[in-house]
Amino acid sequence: MKVTVVGAGNVGATCANVLAHKDFLTEVVLLDIKEGTAEGKALDTWQQAPIDYYSTKTIGVTNDYSKTAQSDVVVITSGLPRKPGMSRDDLISTNANIVRSVTENIIKHSPDTIIIVVSNPLDVMTYCSYLAAKKDSSKVFGMAGILDTARYRAFLADEIQCSPKDIQAILMGGHGDTMVPLPRYTTVSGIPVTELVAPDKLEAIIQRTKVGGGEIVNLLGTSAWYGPGAAAAQMVEAILKDEKRIFPVCAWLSGQYGLKDIYLGVPVVLGKNGIEKIIELQLNSEEKDLLNNSAKHVKEVMDVLDNMQSAAV
Ligand code: NAI
Ligand code: 2OP
Repeated sequence: MKVTVVGAGNVGATCANVLAHKDFLTEVVLLDIKEGTAEGKALDTWQQAPIDYYSTKTIGVTNDYSKTAQSDVVVITSGLPRKPGMSRDDLISTNANIVRSVTENIIKHSPDTIIIVVSNPLDVMTYCSYLAAKKDSSKVFGMAGILDTARYRAFLADEIQCSPKDIQAILMGGHGDTMVPLPRYTTVSGIPVTELVAPDKLEAIIQRTKVGGGEIVNLLGTSAWYGPGAAAAQMVEAILKDEKRIFPVCAWLSGQYGLKDIYLGVPVVLGKNGIEKIIELQLNSEEKDLLNNSAKHVKEVMDVLDNMQSAAV
């Protein structure tokens, strides 16, 4: 099995490295436009193989899409990351041009591939890739919810003083400050989180999660990569091992949750066919309001993209 990761920056290189460590792929191709970057990072990862015991071959290329041919899954991380003071939406026009051209090139060489988008603003870049790929939406989706949920779980583990492994949670909505963590669907080894964390502490964790990306941007001057790279790799694994894992994924909605024609984070089943099912939770009215508010924000940015595209025609 073969996977291509486009963008050999922080997130892409981490994703390729994590995938190699999982040791179930024949080949990971890392592609970037910057001469030497993908080659260097792929070579470094390959030289790590005898130390960490994996056989997955990692190959780096500069903009040579012929080497990506017949990829089973492609992860798109190319684009600019957020800088301090910059919202994800500020990135839209630059990253839309990058994601569109990358998707077109990918599809030329791997028409049957499944695409996972990581570039920001995530929900809208996933839409952009979907439009360019002209594929069924079950094969084009975005990574954000696994990362956002992981942040929420990590903060809860700190608060409860327990292992993050024991925290199960789900988070919905767009990848931005309007995301919707769901305490009603959060358990700690089966124990409802509300039995272990006081309401004010839980609310503070929810607020911190919503700005979790920005917290790292403020610390580092650029956005996170270990969590994002690992999250995208986990999605690739679920697909190619046909694991039927349930993850929050940025998926195209066609009536689910009363929403349609929008990419938004929802729980899905991931398997060999991509998104095999969208799970519809029985949200209460407060949760529905939060989700609708998030959808409204995402839709506004999708409209910006639609207007940019129609202006360009
Ligand atoms: P980075 O700047 O380290 O890497 C981006 C790479 O893309 C660079 O190496 C650049 O040369 C390459 N690139 C630019 N245009 C390209 C093109 N046309 N074809 C191939 N490669 C191209 O950025 P980083 O930190 O890796 O972030 C990548 C993207 O992922 C950003 O848009 C960032 O905002 C987003 N992100 C999304 C997350 C999520 O949860 N969905 C989490 C973290 C980052
Ligand atoms: C993150 O959440 C900025 O989307 C990036 O880390």
